[in-house]
Amino acid sequence: MTEANQEHWDEVYRTKAADSVSWYQPTPEPSLRALDELQLPVTAALIDIGAGASSLVDRLVERGWSDLTVLDIAAPALDVAKARLRDDAARVAWMVADITVWRPKRRYDVWHDRAVFHFLTAPQQRLSYRNALEAGTAAGGVVIIATFASDGPERCSGLPVQRYDAAALAAEFGSAFALEREWSEEHATPGGGRQSFQWCVFRRR
Ligand SMILES: C[S@@+](CC[C@H](N)C(=O)[O-])C[C@H]1O[C@@H](n2cnc3c(N)ncnc32)[C@H](O)[C@@H]1O
Repeated sequence: MTEANQEHWDEVYRTKAADSVSWYQPTPEPSLRALDELQLPVTAALIDIGAGASSLVDRLVERGWSDLTVLDIAAPALDVAKARLRDDAARVAWMVADITVWRPKRRYDVWHDRAVFHFLTAPQQRLSYRNALEAGTAAGGVVIIATFASDGPERCSGLPVQRYDAAALAAEFGSAFALEREWSEEHATPGGGRQSFQWCVFRRR
């Protein structure tokens, strides 16, 4: 299952231009706004889970963030981001890993996930994710997460997804995480479509 998933995503990033996929954002505005509002220091340790070829890392490097980790199951996705960053790629820790198997070796102040958790349609996968989340965040740490909303698409990249509202996400993460903020976003896809996203900020208790 893990291997099939990896092959799926490797193939996506090998065959499609990074700016043509439905989840492409020219600028990761909701994430940057959420980080701005949290007023975190640029020394905060941030991990972007299932970052793909997102330019969030570029923008954070530009802003002087010094402890960045970018994780994705697909090595070709990270290769796109590394090539874009050129010499600055050396300022980032890159990890090819499946979040449902990976166990963090350290804790992060910020756990960012845009459009990854919603692919975990099996309860066991979500439990593994939550175990990684709990191991990878310390008390006071924040989780910025976006999934397809209750009225969002039922599939992404040909795969089924689980859709959430804020209450359902809070229930998934359990009592160790307090919901601080939630909002809806209409993402405009490169193909001209609209996708309804649910964003949440949680604080680790
Ligand atoms: C819809 S894309 C979102 C990419 C990025 N977060 C963004 O906002 O542009 C989903 C990403 O999750 C990655 N992914 C899917 N399943 C994963 C898993 N089990 N572990 C780690 N990454 C995964 C995919 O390779 C892909 O890059």
